[in-house]
Amino acid sequence: MVTLLENPFRTGLRQERTPEPLILTIFGASGDLTQRKLVPAIYQMKRERRLPPELTVVGFARRDWSHDHFREQMRKGIEEFSTGIGSEDLWNEFAQGLFYCSGNMDDPESYLKLKNFLGELDEKRNTRGNRVFYLAVSPNFFPPGIKQLGAAGMLSDPVKSRIVIEKPFGRDLSSAQSLNRVVQSVCKENQVYRIDHYLGKETVQNLMVFRFANAIFEPLWNRQFVDHVQITVAETVGVEERAGYYESAGALRDMVQNHLMQLFCLTAMDPPNAIDADSIRNEKVKVLQATRLADINNLENAGIRGQYKAGWMGGKPVPGYREEPGVDLSSTTPTFAALKLMVDNWRWQGVPFYLRTGKRMPKKVSEIAIQFRQVPLLIFQSVAHQANPNVLSLRIQPNEGISLRFEAKMPGSELRTRTVDMDFSYGSSFGVAAADAYHRLLLDCMLGDQTLFTRADEVEEAWRVVTPVLSAWDAPSDPLSMPLYEAGTWEPAEAEWLINKDGRRWRRL
Ligand code: BG6
Repeated sequence: MVTLLENPFRTGLRQERTPEPLILTIFGASGDLTQRKLVPAIYQMKRERRLPPELTVVGFARRDWSHDHFREQMRKGIEEFSTGIGSEDLWNEFAQGLFYCSGNMDDPESYLKLKNFLGELDEKRNTRGNRVFYLAVSPNFFPPGIKQLGAAGMLSDPVKSRIVIEKPFGRDLSSAQSLNRVVQSVCKENQVYRIDHYLGKETVQNLMVFRFANAIFEPLWNRQFVDHVQITVAETVGVEERAGYYESAGALRDMVQNHLMQLFCLTAMDPPNAIDADSIRNEKVKVLQATRLADINNLENAGIRGQYKAGWMGGKPVPGYREEPGVDLSSTTPTFAALKLMVDNWRWQGVPFYLRTGKRMPKKVSEIAIQFRQVPLLIFQSVAHQANPNVLSLRIQPNEGISLRFEAKMPGSELRTRTVDMDFSYGSSFGVAAADAYHRLLLDCMLGDQTLFTRADEVEEAWRVVTPVLSAWDAPSDPLSMPLYEAGTWEPAEAEWLINKDGRRWRRL
């Protein structure tokens, strides 16, 4: 079953393998994530013949559903949110491996019932006691769920049982530490898969390939050549129906501590000794340990928040955040966050990393831009404008690709220059659409590969970096003091200032 390839970079970061037969139990099986993402991703893997025929999925939730009702719901999800069922025979084979078990996350009886049911399925489907438990539930159920799984003895085999924990992992440093303690009281770190779906994106994984499978970039990747780095994750969507969660989360917890910090780590870390989970995660932790907010004594020099007010998107009026359903009229929850981080190590001393993310921005775009230093001396005195510094931009989504901006001579007898781009596009080079991030992450977890999951110390370090800003923004404040930006526009003016005061500008994307 195992195909060994000499160079892991040739096929991605991992060898092509098929997981062992196992039962994947999804807690929160009646929820959106299961129907929209998880089961469609598993079905897609089935279509690609990446899964063993014995693979079994058990949905666990409070509702009193039958196996057949669960199967119907999952079929709807696959039809609506992915490429569809395809062959009926394949669906029937898949559906035979779908089961449902109703229960309550804080009721010990429910876990015993589940345990017995999984035991019966082992016999029936030959799944050999291999288990993955996926917590696709609201974070307040993480601690009781993990404790109960431990108490029922379902995590006691460190080789055969794994647990997947969705984000957010904690609300701040101390809650993340206490959640880690709960996890560590019932299982070993090698059983724990903390999900950050950004790590499942092809372009995010390509960051490592780009940096460490090419010789020409690494020598430039440091304070000698890089002026600063900008990491942007802009979204056009607003809070949608998620106010219940978002009101107590906000942009820093929802996006920065996890997704943007992961992009930051992969950009700033040193080359790992090998492409394996521990080597990579050691480097990520090392760079996080060296990272701090730019000004800890004066937080407005290091972090700016914002909230969208009513505006226009795609020619239509859209409400402001405070007018969204379920949002408090005087809410001070940020829907935009910008941070300036510094990394105290030999590679990056003095190079600022500016991170920004927001909802209701004019465009959906995620990119990492490495802006290089100016040339030491501009010898083309006749050139009217100053040469623009080189920028290497790694587009995470959409239009996935990489481009390098440089100066070129314009044709003609006069010496005039213009800024041009050298472009690589995933779409045109590979001609295939990138798989959904959950596809890759679920497969890795089934294979027991933790490379693309965050380790306990890593998640805590990321919280440590953002916690001072988080605490300042959580403190009660006058709603009138909240910087606002119109929906459909870029960051609030205060965030412009964060970078302009350093003589730099946000990129217009
Ligand atoms: C989620 C956040 O983790 O990521 C959402 O909770 C956000 O608020 C989403 O919209 C963005 O993910 P993507 O893959 O669309 O960039």
